[in-house]
Amino acid sequence: MRFHMGLARLLPRPNIRPASEPAPGETQVIVLANQKGGVAKTTTTLNLGVAFAEQGFKVLLVDLDPQGNLTMSQGLNPDTIEHSMFDVLVHRMPISQVIETREVDIAVSSIDLAGADMALSSQIGRERALEKGLAPVRDNYDFILIDTPPSLGLLTINAFVAATGVLVPVQTEYLSLRGLVQLENTLSMVRENLNPKVSIIGIVPTMYDKRITHSREADEILRENFGDLVYKTRIRKTIRFAEAPVKGTSVLAYEPAGEAAGMYRDLAKEVLNGQKPRQHA
Ligand SMILES: Nc1ncnc2c1ncn2[C@@H]1O[C@H](COP(=O)(O)OP(=O)(O)O)[C@@H](O)[C@H]1O
Ligand SMILES: [Mg+2]
Repeated sequence: MRFHMGLARLLPRPNIRPASEPAPGETQVIVLANQKGGVAKTTTTLNLGVAFAEQGFKVLLVDLDPQGNLTMSQGLNPDTIEHSMFDVLVHRMPISQVIETREVDIAVSSIDLAGADMALSSQIGRERALEKGLAPVRDNYDFILIDTPPSLGLLTINAFVAATGVLVPVQTEYLSLRGLVQLENTLSMVRENLNPKVSIIGIVPTMYDKRITHSREADEILRENFGDLVYKTRIRKTIRFAEAPVKGTSVLAYEPAGEAAGMYRDLAKEVLNGQKPRQHA
């Protein structure tokens, strides 16, 4: 069965890669988003970020999910950290106070963040809290990667407003094209009202298993509907992705020569598309 539904038309081509081509030296702020949980948003944020860092880029990861999985995946305990992105968004605390340095820099999250939607909702400029929070450190980095919760709520909208591009991990097992349309509709609204530049820069097929017909079909359907927007690199299914976070590391540190690490290095190469690190003073 095929689900064309004119999806490609809903993702207007002119807004795709070109809009996200960075000016030389401009920090790229990439949001990992998909309102479905368990599609490898957090896994991709960490491992893509570490793969960029291996290439010499300066990288900040921002954990914007109250579950704090990204924070945990770098060996930090969200239950015991003192301040988190909640304080940055709601109390305008300088983001430098919640950045920890592990494999890369990470602005940490804790369960407090679950209250951010509510706390921000009555504030003027509630959609720009993250953009404002990032401003003082933005130029220190080549890439800022933002991990988002599985919803299109105010936290994710804040991420879209701060972003130069959106990267969408899609699980090739339970392909939700309808979810992609919803995501694109939200992005259209953000473009109209808050950030004219933001668009989907790429779709990453995740948890791919070529032995499973359904997985191959889902991958084909994605490519039929979204063409070049879908990266050639497929992130295959492997247990390494569950093992590494338990040790508090990326798969690149956990098994540097392993195939899991290789897949994210390949993805990084595609996203970079020839860009070289700029010189930092
Ligand atoms: N390529 C993969 N193969 C197997 N398991 C994976 C893969 N990518 C992620 N996982 C595992 O799947 C679960 C969900 O991934 P996660 O990155 O937390 O998704 P999300 O952030 O979208 O909810 C985690 O337990 C993670 O370790
Ligand atoms: Mg997650």
